[in-house]
Amino acid sequence: MSDRKILVTSALPYANGPIHLGHLVEYIQTDIWVRFQKQRGNTCYFVCADDTHGTPIMLRADREGITPEQLIAQVGQEHLADFTEFGVAFDNYHSTHSEENRSYSSLIYKRLRDAGHISSRNITQAFDPVKNMFLSDRFIKGDCPKCGASDQYGDGCEACGTTYAPSELKNAVSAISGAKPISKDSVHYFFDLANFTEMLNAWTKEGHLQSEVRNKLAEWLEGGLQQWDISRDAPYFGFEIPDAPGKYFYVWLDAPIGYMASFKNLCDKQGTDFDEYWAKDSTTELYHFIGKDIIYFHALFWPAMLSGANFRTPSAIYAHGFLTVNGEKMSKSRGTFITARTYLDHLNPEYLRYYFAAKLSASVDDIDLNFDDFSQRVNSDLVGKVVNIASRCSGFIAKRFDNHLSEKCSEPALYQEFINANELIANFYETREFGKAMREIMALADKANQYIDEKKPWLIAKQEGNEAELHDVCSMGLNLFSLLATYLKPVIPVLAEQAELFLNISTQAWPAAQNPLLNHSINDFKPLMTRVEADKILAIVEASKENLEKTASPLKAKVFEPIADTIEFEDFAKLDLRIAKIIKAEHIEGSDKLLQLTVDIGDETRNILAGIKSAYAPEDLEGKLTLVIANLAPRKMRFGCSEGMVLAAGPGGKDIWILSPEAGAVAGLRVK
Ligand code: MSP
Ligand code: ZN
Repeated sequence: MSDRKILVTSALPYANGPIHLGHLVEYIQTDIWVRFQKQRGNTCYFVCADDTHGTPIMLRADREGITPEQLIAQVGQEHLADFTEFGVAFDNYHSTHSEENRSYSSLIYKRLRDAGHISSRNITQAFDPVKNMFLSDRFIKGDCPKCGASDQYGDGCEACGTTYAPSELKNAVSAISGAKPISKDSVHYFFDLANFTEMLNAWTKEGHLQSEVRNKLAEWLEGGLQQWDISRDAPYFGFEIPDAPGKYFYVWLDAPIGYMASFKNLCDKQGTDFDEYWAKDSTTELYHFIGKDIIYFHALFWPAMLSGANFRTPSAIYAHGFLTVNGEKMSKSRGTFITARTYLDHLNPEYLRYYFAAKLSASVDDIDLNFDDFSQRVNSDLVGKVVNIASRCSGFIAKRFDNHLSEKCSEPALYQEFINANELIANFYETREFGKAMREIMALADKANQYIDEKKPWLIAKQEGNEAELHDVCSMGLNLFSLLATYLKPVIPVLAEQAELFLNISTQAWPAAQNPLLNHSINDFKPLMTRVEADKILAIVEASKENLEKTASPLKAKVFEPIADTIEFEDFAKLDLRIAKIIKAEHIEGSDKLLQLTVDIGDETRNILAGIKSAYAPEDLEGKLTLVIANLAPRKMRFGCSEGMVLAAGPGGKDIWILSPEAGAVAGLRVK
């Protein structure tokens, strides 16, 4: 086996939220591949880091009343704990807010600048006059210019799907302060990606990319490459640009450089040669595992930046698809937005590692986590097929043979068949066809079970004088089990280690050539894995719905919500607040949030669309009272016009409260 030298990365998770099962597709996929490389005897480093810069992180720290440094330290620890418990074994986990990253970001920037790839010019942007900061599209909210839906972001409408420029939004406000944005000029720095058109044209065709990705890139290249805006104005949590005070690197500039920084941090700790992996003439291999949403950054910007700054480019970018749960996008209200931690509270992480492995291929297709399929596969494959072999054979070896294996391999051809499969399985692992690898391994497991079914050790055990045969059959079974566990080791390392402990063998290398365990003492068998219990899955879904209510709580919801500044009494006095009686309440077809209310405000009735469906069924509302703003200008929304606004108490979700008649109020009562 050749000793390859390989550096592998997974994308750096943002430090503004928890790790969820979608993320884990990637980290588990990468980890399996890395464990496989190591088991094969290759030198392989797996590095990652938290992606810590940018506006959302700065704002979240602000809201929580802590510094961004405190926030990222806390989230970094949580992320690493989640990864570790899922068996994702990084050789180094670092942070983009590190000295190494600052130094490589500056170096790369300066090299690009000196080679003439950086330019600057004035641009006009939305600016929040209260917060004194420029607003990216995601931080501007208003009414959709097409359908009128309120509360839409500056880049597109979630109600009707139209995309537009933030300047087209009606009644635009800053999502941070609620203030009306103004237009303001500022100098920005750009990376001239077009200078790399030729380089990228060649690079994207040289076998570094999956075919689907290559085709996508060909389209982008044909469309012409634009300058990339790499600077942001203060206030920004990031690195200040060396020769441009008050300007910061855009988070996506220093994020991929974080791969280098994490590796450099590892090199310094253990004396590895950084340049051997990153110098222009490097002969080592470099792979980036990423999701399909960030291909643009990794297959265009990143190789261009590296080549412009005189570093090596990646050997390959491996993109995967997105995780859906029960066939749909992960959703908080359905309880399918499942965090790593919630899963860990209830189920064995190796179930999920195996399930993902069984579903993964080398393509960018999305993969679905279906809970029935999940239980069934884990129960039938891992518990029913693999572990079962060990439990079927170990009892006799313990009771009748004092945990000692026979001296003879009774079925050398079968054993050899299992060894011979190693090449095909290795090939599947190497090419990220994990699903095919799992099928191949399970086909072997079927053969091992068949062997035991045919030999029927439980019958042999009852016959007199057949001790030797019983000994041989059960020893053979355990030898086959040993190979299965070894093949599965990249996927379920904990189970594989427990198997090694049980079989009393050292850490297993890839079994390219191997002899059966003969005349060998083993340890007592302990159950290696239990079946997935249905109630645990229900508990996860329930707990994930709780997450929803937690995130809807006033504290956490603040990040994107307009937080208005103090208002004067005159502002308050402008509100016509009334007690209204709900005369009629109806569902609105197509809306899962809104109810259509007809309310009596004393001198007239009004139609109001209220987002309280999560808490009330229409029939529970009729006859109840609520507080409304009666003089709010009518708003055209996707589902009709709303002539006022219902004010209810509570954090949201199920916890929204409308007044009951017992409150002693009557319709039309003015409330101030
Ligand atoms: N911070 C950037 C990456 C910078 S890399 C220099 C980022 N972070 S992320 O937290 O949003 O996502 C991290 C990785 O997880 C990405 O590769 C992303 O594609 C992947 N996934 C996030 N949600 C996912 C699913 N629902 N399904 C599969 N992968 C997903 O992007
Ligand atoms: Zn719209």
